[in-house]
This record gives sequence, structure tokens and C-alpha cells, in this order.
Amino acid sequence: MPRTKLPIRTRANSDKHDLYERSVQCPEAEIEFVDTTFRKIRGRRATSFREDFCGTAASACEWVRLRDTNTAVGVDLDGPTLANGVKRHVSKLTDDQKKRITLQRRNVLHPTGPGLGVDVVVAMNFSYWIFKTRELMLSYFKAVRKSLVPDGMLFMDHYGGSDSYLEIKERRRIGGARRGFTYIWDQAHYNPITNEKTNHIHFEFKKGPAWKKAFTYTWRLWSLIEIRELLTEAGFKNITVYWEGDDGHGGGDGVFKKTTRGEACRCYIAYISAEK
Ligand SMILES: C[S@@+](CC[C@H](N)C(=O)[O-])C[C@H]1O[C@@H](n2cnc3c(N)ncnc32)[C@H](O)[C@@H]1O
Repeated sequence: MPRTKLPIRTRANSDKHDLYERSVQCPEAEIEFVDTTFRKIRGRRATSFREDFCGTAASACEWVRLRDTNTAVGVDLDGPTLANGVKRHVSKLTDDQKKRITLQRRNVLHPTGPGLGVDVVVAMNFSYWIFKTRELMLSYFKAVRKSLVPDGMLFMDHYGGSDSYLEIKERRRIGGARRGFTYIWDQAHYNPITNEKTNHIHFEFKKGPAWKKAFTYTWRLWSLIEIRELLTEAGFKNITVYWEGDDGHGGGDGVFKKTTRGEACRCYIAYISAEK
């Protein structure tokens, strides 16, 4: 049967959440890391999982797909983003998987219901940097700690390096000729007095207008030591950093290894785990 060609990608025929996920998310790799690390440290499998700042809940969906005993809660403030996740991800789960996932439109500072008493909480893609003061970050970590079972764990990611202080743009081409697009990470503003930064994500297409400022984040650029100190202050034990390996061409290889010694590089991504 002849295959119908997909239309050339444009802003008009794209969903910005889909573009975001293709550019910066890999729920399969993230969930594999969390699942295997929890098992290694705790000597059992995690079953209940909460995805804070879940956006379209791609990772929560991946968690319920992983094993038929797994349950997931996704928490996000934004109704339309959660609705997009229901339309594009939750709707594709089986009936059994749908029964094991709950999405909550609420502030991660005030977890409730099935979001309490969980094995694992994850906060990915640096979303927790929305909290710009020590007080707010500490209250978030305390709220997470309270939500965990006695051997529960928190997982987060982190980025840094000399480039993170600069007002620069990174462009990356994603996908093939017809459905491909360009992802642009725009570090638009950085204030060294407060460490506040404004980052935008733009998308460009071969045809038609770009999608300028599809997403904007105003964050505090936290250092790993500040985060580790606040986790300790919140009562977490054994805070571990996992550094990404080098692919030999100036990029990361997607393999994260436990270490106490980072590298003074231009740009790094790390995972952090913290034990209750
Ligand atoms: C960068 S996106 C993260 C999406 C996804 N978790 C990921 O890994 O790519 C940040 C999300 O955090 C949500 N958000 C911001 N502040 C929040 C808060 N206090 N409580 C819950 N969600 C919040 C926003 O609505 C947005 O969907």
C-alpha cells in the first residue's frame, strides 16, 4: 500500500508540548534510571511514584506502563498543560494503566491524597528552580520528605557549568526532513546579583513562522552544593550526585554515574538522589 506522506511540519500543524517533549524529554531513560537506582539503594522495587511539575505527565505514564503493580500521581499547577497530557498520553494507556494514574492540578508545596505516602518523588527538567529563595526551596524539600514512605527517595536533575551563566542561545535540529524542526534554548537574561535567569524555548520550522517563546522559565540558578545543603537541612540523608559521561564530541552520553568529583566543564547535566 502506498504510504501517505506526512505534511511538512509548520507551527500551525504542531503541538508545542509535543515539540517540547521531542526536544528535551526522554521518559524511558529517566524512569529506567530512577527504577534501577532505587532498587540498588533500597534493595526492593519502588511501586508508587509522584511526578512533581509533571507538565504533560509523560514520565508518570511511563511509570504505570513499566509494571502492572506500579501507580503514579502527576502534580502540576497548569490545567491546559495537564489536559494536553490527558489527550496525548493518558488516553493511550490501557484501561488498567489508566486506573493506576492520577493527575492533580495543585501546587507541589501542598501535596495531598495519593500524592502522600509514595516510594519515589521526581522533579525533573530543573522545574524546582522556580523556587527562588532558600525558604521556599526548603519548604518544598520538607513537603517532599513528608510525602515519602520511610525508605522513600527523591530524584531531581541539575545543570550548570560556565555556559549556564551566559546569555547565549543553543540551536539543535531535531527529526527528519519533513517533520523535523529546530529547537532553540535561549538563555535570555542572567542577573549575577540574584542568580535569577530567564530562559526561553523557541521552535523554528522549514516553512512558515517560528514559535517564539513557546515556553519561558524564570528560575534561580542553584549550585549543586546549595541544593545538597538544603536537602540535608530538610532532613534527607545520603544525597548522591550522578554525573553524565562524555560522548567524545563535546556532548553527554546519557550515562549517569555516582561521583563526588564533578568536572569544571562548560555545561553539565547531573541527577541527584536523596534518601528519607
Ligand atoms: C519545565 S516544565 C516541566 C515538565 C516536565 N516535568 C519535564 O520534565 O519536562 C515545568 C512545569 O512546572 C509547573 N509548575 C510550576 N510551578 C509549580 C508549582 N508550584 N506546583 C506545581 N507545578 C508547577 C508548570 O505549570 C510547568 O508545567
